[in-house]
Amino acid sequence: MNRTIELIKTIYEIKQLEDFDEPQIALAGRSNVGKSSLVNRLAGRKKLAKISSKPGKTRSLNYYRVNPDGYFLVDLPGYGYAKCSKTERDKWAKLIEAYISGNARLKAVAVLLDCRLSPQKIDLELTSYLGSLGIPIIPVLTKADKPKQRDRARLQNQWQDILQQDRAPVLFSSKTGMGESKLWEILTEYAAS
Ligand code: GTP
Ligand code: MG
Repeated sequence: MNRTIELIKTIYEIKQLEDFDEPQIALAGRSNVGKSSLVNRLAGRKKLAKISSKPGKTRSLNYYRVNPDGYFLVDLPGYGYAKCSKTERDKWAKLIEAYISGNARLKAVAVLLDCRLSPQKIDLELTSYLGSLGIPIIPVLTKADKPKQRDRARLQNQWQDILQQDRAPVLFSSKTGMGESKLWEILTEYAAS
């Protein structure tokens, strides 16, 4: 299918949150894990979402509409950026919490995890928080072009065990396109759920 992705709205504060009717799938993960690059890859456009080699690029919540399907992908600001102040980190947590917890149209959260790192405390905190709210998790291992096949497979198994899911996490690379069609399939399934 020929899909397009367009930016609908950017918000910085809780008071700007809006109840959309469209089903939504959020993209969450540590700063620099590759959330914005993933949006660009899916969109087939290099500069739709701003990316940066420096962590902490996306400070806002960005709503993208997937056409013709009609659901939203919501790029959340990255967490765990060490250099940002405590005030800023608290602001992040409150904004994300307000977005996630009060959202009846949120179908799933794609949790992006760096394929080169063993499971990190901060990622486990997010996945158990989502689990406690009963929100489905779509685990995506990013930058899968980097590690060796053996290491990728090990991490994939590790995360599948932790999350106790039937399906293995998607190995994804914005650079090569690995996992792109698999991810589309899963997003479409959740958006329609
Ligand atoms: P924040 O906005 O800070 O939360 O970061 P982000 O998660 O949006 O990450 P972003 O997409 O900006 O990517 C961060 C860096 O990782 C950039 O230098 C990207 O080029 C690089 N990167 C992202 N995805 C991939 C990938 O699949 N493979 C490789 N090799 N590099 C990637
Ligand atoms: Mg970003």
